[in-house]
Amino acid sequence: MMHSPDGFPVPLIRIRETNSTNLYLNHLCNETVQAEFTTVISRYQTAGRGQRGNSWESEDGKNLLFSFVLYPGFLEAKRQFLLSQIISLAIKETLDVYTNDISIKWPNDIYWKDKKICGMLIEHNLAGSYIERSIAGIGININQQQFFSPAPNPVSLWQITGKEENPVEIASDIMQRVQEYYRLLRQDAVEQIGVRYQKSLFRRNGLHSYKDAEGEFKATILRVEPEGRLILKDENGKERGYMFKEVEFRFTD
Ligand code: BTN
Repeated sequence: MMHSPDGFPVPLIRIRETNSTNLYLNHLCNETVQAEFTTVISRYQTAGRGQRGNSWESEDGKNLLFSFVLYPGFLEAKRQFLLSQIISLAIKETLDVYTNDISIKWPNDIYWKDKKICGMLIEHNLAGSYIERSIAGIGININQQQFFSPAPNPVSLWQITGKEENPVEIASDIMQRVQEYYRLLRQDAVEQIGVRYQKSLFRRNGLHSYKDAEGEFKATILRVEPEGRLILKDENGKERGYMFKEVEFRFTD
C-alpha cells in the first residue's frame, strides 16, 4: 500500500488491485474509522461494479478508478440526490480543464458529446431518515485507447485529446472541488447547486428522443427537481416526470 503523495488534498490510499474500490473502502470503514474524504485509488479492479448490476471495464493502469467516503449526517436520505449533483459538478468542472463538450447526463453520468467518459456508483448507509455514510465510487476513462465491453458508448480523455494524463492528478483536482462543493452543501446552498447542475446538463436545450414504459417520444428537458425527478415536456406540450431508471435517453437523433 502506498501513501499520500505531497499535495493530494485528502487522505489517500493507493493500491495496485482490488475487486472494487467501493467494496475495499467499505470494508476498511467497517474495520476502522476513516477520516471524511479518505480516498482509495486502484490501478485495476477485478470486479469493477457499475449501475444496474453491470460491470465496469477498465484496462490495467490506464484509467482513474477511485472511491471516497463522506459522513453527511446533516442530510436527509430523501435529499441524497444533492450528493450526486455536487460530485457530478466536481468531475465535470475538472474535465472542463482538458476538453470542451463535457456535460452531466441525468442523473449522474458524465458525458463528452454523446459518449460516456465517466460513471459513478454512490452507496449510502442510513441511520433512521438521515445518511450516516456514503461511499462514492467513480470511474473515469483517461488513457484507454480501445474499449471491448458491450457498453454502448464509452470514450476516454485520450481518445478526445490524443494526450496521456496522470489519473492521480485528475483525482486530486476532483477531490479539491468535492471539498468545496461539500462546504456549499453544508451551508445548505442547494439553489446554487441546483442552478449549476441544470446549466451543466446533457441535452439542456432542444428536442431529443426518450423512451419510457409507454414507448419512444421526443421532448425537451424542463428541469430537474431537488429530489432528482427529471421533468420533460413532450411535443404535445405535456409535462412528464421521471425518477431514475424510469426513462431512457435514446440516441437515434
Ligand atoms: C456506472 O455504471 O456508470 C457506474 C460505474 C462506476 C465505476 C466505478 S470504478 C470505481 C468504483 N468501484 C467500482 O466497483 N465501481 C466504481
